[in-house]
Amino acid sequence: MLLRHKNIILGISGGIAAYKTPDLVRRLRDEGAEVRVVMTQGASSFVTPLSLEAVSGYSVTSEILDRQTESAMSHIDLARWADVCLIAPATAQIIAKIAHGFADDLLTTLLLATKAPVVICPAMNMHMYQHPAVQHNVAQLQARGCTLVGPAEGVQACGDVGPGRMVEPLDIIQALSQQFEPLILQGKNVLITAGPTQEALDPVRYVSNHSSGKMGFALAEHAARLGATVYLVTGRVHLPTPSGVKRIDVVSAQDMLSAVMDYVDQADLFIGCAAVADYRAADVQPEKIKKSASTLHLELVKNPDIIQTVAALPRKPFTVGFAAETTQCETYAKDKLVSKKLDMIALNNVSQPEQVFGHDDNALDVFWHDGSQSLPRTSKSALALQLLRLISQRCLQ
Ligand code: PMT
Repeated sequence: MLLRHKNIILGISGGIAAYKTPDLVRRLRDEGAEVRVVMTQGASSFVTPLSLEAVSGYSVTSEILDRQTESAMSHIDLARWADVCLIAPATAQIIAKIAHGFADDLLTTLLLATKAPVVICPAMNMHMYQHPAVQHNVAQLQARGCTLVGPAEGVQACGDVGPGRMVEPLDIIQALSQQFEPLILQGKNVLITAGPTQEALDPVRYVSNHSSGKMGFALAEHAARLGATVYLVTGRVHLPTPSGVKRIDVVSAQDMLSAVMDYVDQADLFIGCAAVADYRAADVQPEKIKKSASTLHLELVKNPDIIQTVAALPRKPFTVGFAAETTQCETYAKDKLVSKKLDMIALNNVSQPEQVFGHDDNALDVFWHDGSQSLPRTSKSALALQLLRLISQRCLQ
């Protein structure tokens, strides 16, 4: 599936080729995409919103500041949701409006708000398309990074023969798929741990750490986008499950180990991003520990080492660990690479913990047995993608 887990906004403007869009939506969904349709007012003269709702599975919108639309998914949410915005068919009018930055309906407004790539499929009379005004607008859009697909040549609805037909759905799908990363993890099963573990002391207290799960969730999200089947075993975090990812919620290190062992047989790649508590209470008190003496002695016992257990399996997946260190970072990370029998380790310096735990950005130094690479500070999302590319280059070919 060329567009697996991709979120596509399909903007339909008012041209005769709009009648082809229910079929286009169906084919996009066959390729694994989620499609939300936004129509201009003119578009609904050629195809009904109801047909597009039926094939896309989502309500179809055209109005900006429509109360129902804004409460379901606002124009800004739509702009953020999109992995790509496809305008098909794109009339001379919508091309002019996008080129000049108009924002007088939902489609043009969200196109100003989105960071997603924009793919435009012109469809109009051939003489209109060749008009210098249209050509100027098209050139402006291309200079701004929009991708133009078509128009195709052939007999037009008006009887003219030349360039002006909307390209066929299969060509549109091909062009859209080129907007994305190659599916370097297609066919792979990836098991990821994320977040903190919590080790109970009594019914109300626990020992834990500051991991928010952001790094592990970013890895899961990108692994799915790169085509993998992803299992995400996570401690308690406040994050939504990335699209297409199977999430298994756990609390303690022992729970996490048991969930990992349930899925590890199928895994080609294991990434231990969770901040697993090294120790747990020797005896969890059945009742709340009472405050009496001025000091409290807790007896802690060592937790199982999850990643070490995975790396010792006879059929071990490619195993990538993380190291969170405050001093002698490189030495300790390399020690863990060897002692835990890992294939790769990503070191983060947590001497300034607030710069890493819970933060949206981070930096990593990645080590494997005969090499290393630094990934400078950027968003955890970008880092996750870079790390997965590195993993795939080194091991999964
Ligand atoms: O969640 P965020 O707020 O986004 O923060 C991300 C992070 C800092 C938690 C993450 O980038 C990270 O570094 N995770 C690993 C933290 C950690 O536990 O490091 P460690 O050096 O203690 O452990 C080394 C490796 O052994 C890790 O892969 C860890 O998952 C694993 N381990 C550790 C102990 C244990 N009992 N079992 C394990 O599997």
